[in-house]
Amino acid sequence: MRKKQAGSMDENTPNGPHARLRLALRGFAAVCFCLGLSSCGEKSQSKALPLDDADFLARASGFVSEPLPDADLTNRFCENEKAALFGRRLFGEMAFSGEGTRSCISCHDPSHGFADTRSLSHGEGDVNRHAPTLINVAYGQWFGWGGKADSLWSQALGPLEHPAEMGGDRLAIAHHLSNTPELAKTYGELFGTLPALNDAARFPAHGLPSGADPGGKRATASAAWEAMADGDRQTINRIFSNVGKALAAYETKLISGPSPFDRRVRALQRGDCEPVEGWDAAAARGFDLFTGHAMCVVCHSGPRFSDGEFHNTGAPPLHGGEPVDPGRYQGGPTLQASIFRAGGAFSDHTSGQRAERTKRLKTGSEQWGEFKTPSLRNLVERPPYMHQGQFEDLEQVVDFYDTRENSVGQSHHQEQILRPLSLTEEQRSDLLAFLRALQGGPVSAPWATPRPF
Ligand code: HEC
Ligand code: HEC
Repeated sequence: MRKKQAGSMDENTPNGPHARLRLALRGFAAVCFCLGLSSCGEKSQSKALPLDDADFLARASGFVSEPLPDADLTNRFCENEKAALFGRRLFGEMAFSGEGTRSCISCHDPSHGFADTRSLSHGEGDVNRHAPTLINVAYGQWFGWGGKADSLWSQALGPLEHPAEMGGDRLAIAHHLSNTPELAKTYGELFGTLPALNDAARFPAHGLPSGADPGGKRATASAAWEAMADGDRQTINRIFSNVGKALAAYETKLISGPSPFDRRVRALQRGDCEPVEGWDAAAARGFDLFTGHAMCVVCHSGPRFSDGEFHNTGAPPLHGGEPVDPGRYQGGPTLQASIFRAGGAFSDHTSGQRAERTKRLKTGSEQWGEFKTPSLRNLVERPPYMHQGQFEDLEQVVDFYDTRENSVGQSHHQEQILRPLSLTEEQRSDLLAFLRALQGGPVSAPWATPRPF
């Protein structure tokens, strides 16, 4: 079971966000009492930390990075080392794509925080969203900007078939595994021997459900899929979901090391107030703003600096005009209809928290234009920002929150909390210093550099 995030807030409190913030801070203040144990350099003398440090520590502890994500029980391979290695191999597998020239790496660039360098991603066609980072992604509960998947393994199946992303199809993917001895062998060791797929009448070369082919450009392949026997379709869906499970096991390894912020908090927890590289007074003032006047913490809470939920920030569409992306409004129903959801037949835990959360989802018009709150860890290595990469750098993001200039207001759909902040020059640079101090250490070596095949 996922622990309740210490820095997170209950979305269901009837009070307004200001009240929520005050309540949360009062909670943190209670922690102060326990901290007067040691002072810097005088640990044995049971003196209190300097007041500023003790106060910072009390408010910051709930944001410190967690060791490892909880296991995703819907994927019994999620913590399997061999599956992760297989997933790393598949992450670079270009033969899975329709044209044979693209893999996950094409948009999730390992040298750019596993995010896209471009604002809008481009695969076998134009994508209308930005490919976010995959670092620390396994801590999340919903995937995609609109949350159209409730597990990492089911998320991975989307881009494989999406016509504008990799443009592959599940039958071709199964055949490729079966026809590539090295892949078939590892697949068999993990998931059981692949069934024979050489009867072309039962298992055509290409096939995918028409629902996975928006635009309908692959009508022949979707007709071939519909013509298959139900049991044979399930066989292919099983192989396809296992591909997702291996990819997810790999993505679960993409975890960043501690940031200057984490190192500062952990040092203070040990009673050590020596300076920490990358953390300074400006960053500390930025943290005060973040959790105080600027109220960023209302959405960017907990160890990932994200509540994992969906909000409408009113960020203007990249190419101007009125917003057209429904975000969460579309993501929720798409997820509930997916056969690969946590409560579906291909999940390894159909009655757990993930499945329940999806079942209970309600969609209302207020969700139109809401996007998932991104984690604020490791920001500096992966511009641009937001769901369309609207902002080229962090200065632009802070500018947007500060002035709200060009924000697209949708009356009641817009979050009430987001008002102009009227920050001074110094406050803006403090906030930036804080955001930069959330840059963590690199992903550990065996996982950091998948290569294309
Ligand atoms: C053509 C570009 C492209 C390719 C190729 C691609 N992705 Fe993505 N990826 C995206 C975009 C765009 C999004 C945002 C999608 C959305 O919001 O619906 C995304 C989102 C994700 C997310 C959700 C992250 C989060 O924080 O919610 C994961 C996980 C992911 N991709 C994994 C993969 C894997 C695994 C592959 C290879 C099988 C892959 N992607 C291939 C563009 C791509
Ligand atoms: C009402 C909830 C909410 C508040 C308050 C909020 N954010 Fe956000 N933030 C979001 C959401 C949602 C997104 C994604 C928006 C999008 O893609 O259109 C986002 C995106 C971002 C990003 C881009 C991250 C990325 O990976 O693309 C940064 C940086 C950021 N916010 C910083 C801040 C700061 C600093 C503050 C306070 C001044 C703040 N946010 C206040 C919800 C919020």
